[in-house]
Amino acid sequence: MANRAQTPALRLSGVTKRFGAFTANERVDLDINRGEIHALLGENGAGKTTLMRIVTGLYQPDEGEVRMDGETIRFRKPEHALRAGIGMVHQHFTLVPTLTELQNLAMRPARIPWSNATADVRRRSEEIAATTGLRINPDRMVADASIGERQRLEIVKLLCRGARILIFDEPSAALSPGEWDELAALMRRLAAEGHAIVLISHKLTEVFAVADRYTVLRAGAVVGTGLVTEVTPDELVTMMVGGPVMERPARAHVNPGRPVLTVRGLGVARDPLDPKSPPALSGIDLQVRAGEILGIAGVAGSGQNELVEAVMGIRPALRGRIELDGKPFEDRTPRRFYQSGGALIPEDRHHVAIVSGMTLWENITMRALRRPPLSRRGILNPSAARGEARRLMAEFDIRADTEKIPIGRLSGGNQQKAVLAREFSGHPALLIAVQPVRGLDVRATDFVYRQLSEHRARGGAILLISMDLDEILALSDRIAVLAHGRIQGVVEAEDATRTRIGALMTSAEEAPCS
Ligand SMILES: Nc1ncnc2c1ncn2[C@@H]1O[C@H](COP(=O)(O)OP(=O)(O)OP(=O)(O)O)[C@@H](O)[C@H]1O
Ligand SMILES: [Mg+2]
Repeated sequence: MANRAQTPALRLSGVTKRFGAFTANERVDLDINRGEIHALLGENGAGKTTLMRIVTGLYQPDEGEVRMDGETIRFRKPEHALRAGIGMVHQHFTLVPTLTELQNLAMRPARIPWSNATADVRRRSEEIAATTGLRINPDRMVADASIGERQRLEIVKLLCRGARILIFDEPSAALSPGEWDELAALMRRLAAEGHAIVLISHKLTEVFAVADRYTVLRAGAVVGTGLVTEVTPDELVTMMVGGPVMERPARAHVNPGRPVLTVRGLGVARDPLDPKSPPALSGIDLQVRAGEILGIAGVAGSGQNELVEAVMGIRPALRGRIELDGKPFEDRTPRRFYQSGGALIPEDRHHVAIVSGMTLWENITMRALRRPPLSRRGILNPSAARGEARRLMAEFDIRADTEKIPIGRLSGGNQQKAVLAREFSGHPALLIAVQPVRGLDVRATDFVYRQLSEHRARGGAILLISMDLDEILALSDRIAVLAHGRIQGVVEAEDATRTRIGALMTSAEEAPCS
C-alpha cells in the first residue's frame, strides 16, 4: 500500500454527475493533498459546487469514485462526510439565526443527545480559538452576527466536528477586504497544520495570494490543473472561458441631469424597534443624479444596509428627508419604492431577491407580471411572460435548460444574473446595486459592469454600494465614503485614489452614541 504521506487526502476518479439529460460533471479526476490549498475554478455553472456536493454526500455520483486517504467512500449524507472529516462552508450559510452561536455549534442530528453537548462544544470552541485564533461569541444570537462573523462560526462548527478536509465555496463573496485577509491567513494556518483545503473562487487575485495548485472546470470537465506559480491570470481566464476576455470599456463622459435620489439629514437607529438605540446612520446627505453612478465606499457594517433599508421604507428613519425623482418620498414602503421607479439588486440574494421554489421565469418577470404586456386587465398571459423570460435569459446569458426550472437549482452566478435581468429590465430611474457582481465569473462581471455603464448612459441614476474598492473606483462618477454611520467625504472620480478613499475610511472617529 502507498505511503500515507503520498496518498492524496482526497482523490476523485472519473466522477460524472447528471441532472436529467444535463451533465454537470464529466469524468472528473482531481487530487487534493494534505497541507495544500487547492483552487477550484471555472465559469458560473461550470460544475464546481456540484462536484464538491458529491464529495460531501449531498449528491451521489452517477459514475466514478471518490477516495479519502486511499479508501473508497460513498457518503449518503453530509453528516457522514463530516464524521469522516470532510466539511464544506457553503455559498449560502446553514446556520439557524434564532439560536445562539453556541447552540448552532451544538446542533446535531436528532439521534445524538443534546444536553451534554453544549459544555463540550464550548470547551472545544475555546481550544479552536487558542490554536487558530478563530474566536466566536457563544451567547450572541446568530441573527445579530455580521456575514463575516457567521462565516467564522461555520468554520468553527466544521473544525469542532473534526473536519480535516475543508471546502470553501466562494468564501470571500460577502467579506470585506480585511475579513478576507483574516480568512486567507487562517487558511494558510490550517493548511500548515496538515488540513487539505479546497477554495472555490472567481477572484484570481485571491487565488494567486493563497492557493498552491489549481484545477479549472469547463462545462463540467477538467480543462487544466497545475501549480499556481506556473500559470498566469490570463492563462487561467482562457482556460475557464475558452478564449480571451474583452477589455473593459473606459468610462464615457456623461453630463449628469436632474436629481433622482436626494437624502438630507437622514438619521436611523440601530434597532428599528427602539428609536433610543445608538444611531446606525446620522446626518446623511447625498444626491444621485440622472446619468450618474454614486459609489458608496466603506467596510461592511458601516451603515450600508441601514441606508438601503431606510430609502426603501423597510426601516423607519428618525429624522431627515428623502426625495425620489424630485418628489418627497414620505410614506415609504418597498412597493412604493418600486412604483416610484426604484429597483434593487440586494446583497443577500436568498432572503430578499429570489423565491427558490418558484420557476426561473416567475422570478425574472415578477415585477412586470401585473402590468401590460404580460397581463391584460389583471389577467396574466403566462406564455408572454415565459417568452419575456427567455428573451432576458438570452440577453443576460442565464444558463438554464428551460425557463421552467425552479430558480433554486441554478448555479449561484446564474441566480444572480436572473436578479440583474429582472431589475435592469424595468429601466428604473434609480437602481440601488449592492455588491452587484457577487458570485459572478469574469465574463459575467464584465457584462454587469457594462450594463451599469449603459444604464447610466441612458440617464439612469445608480447608487452603487460595494465593499470592493476597486469596483467602486472603476465605476463611480463620485464616491461617498461611509464609516461609522456618517458620510466622511465625497470625492470626484478624477480625484479618487485608493489612498485618499482609504484615509477617509479609517480617519473616522466612532460616532458618539447619542
Ligand atoms: N439539483 C439540480 N438540478 C438540476 N440542475 C442542477 C442542479 N444542481 C446544479 N445543477 C446545474 O448544474 C450546473 C452546474 O452547477 P454548479 O452549481 O455546480 O455550478 P458552479 O460552477 O458552482 O457555478 P457558480 O460559479 O455560478 O456557483 C448548472 O448548470 C446548474 O444549473
Ligand atoms: Mg457554485
